[in-house]
Amino acid sequence: MVFRVAIDGPAASGKGTIARGVAEGFGFAHLESGLVYRAAARRLLDLLSPGDDLNDERLMATLAVRAARAVVMEDLNGPGLRGEEIADVTSRISVLGEVRDVLRGLQRSFADAPPGGVSGVVIDGRDIATVVMPDADVKIYVDADVCVRAGRRAVEEGRELGEVLAEIEARDVRDSGRRVAPLRCAEGAIVLDTSHLTIEESIASALEVIRTARAGR
Ligand code: DC
Repeated sequence: MVFRVAIDGPAASGKGTIARGVAEGFGFAHLESGLVYRAAARRLLDLLSPGDDLNDERLMATLAVRAARAVVMEDLNGPGLRGEEIADVTSRISVLGEVRDVLRGLQRSFADAPPGGVSGVVIDGRDIATVVMPDADVKIYVDADVCVRAGRRAVEEGRELGEVLAEIEARDVRDSGRRVAPLRCAEGAIVLDTSHLTIEESIASALEVIRTARAGR
């Protein structure tokens, strides 16, 4: 049976870096589910015609579902998916239940049949332990103070702290406040606060949690 690790957390909490470290450490396949949502946003932007208004909710909903259905795993390797600009559109379309239904299918297929015949899979995101893999063997909720998170992202992207902080706060409100699959710490999840941890310390903590869980399985 494939060993499943679900890692959730808010923007710039370190969950992606930790998930990559876990995948490397154990030779597991890794899926960054944020990229699945970002790929849908990318496809949505490509569907827009001149004059289309991103604030037109009906238009966005129709196009977003079409965009989500068009996403294939290869999209995740495409250019221009990272960055706060596309993250904003991503966060807007990820409130839509129909979009989530379509993209959840892709994520579950990955979890059920990870590429390369590996012994385990790690998926990071917002609703992995609550919705995508509620039966995961290990659930980790990564958190960090919002100012620390904004500081990390500002350095990464070479941008002004105040601007990034405002964007991340808006995204937190949307990701945690949405009706469908909001960001939540799942029942039974282990909370890992990375505010005062280095990347290496954060990964080491996660590896330890998983090692213990595997030993008891
Ligand atoms: O993890 P990220 O910053 O790449 O995610 C971008 C956006 O995608 C995030 O604001 C919310 C959405 N998302 C989601 O709703 N559910 C997931 N499992 C992953 C991402």
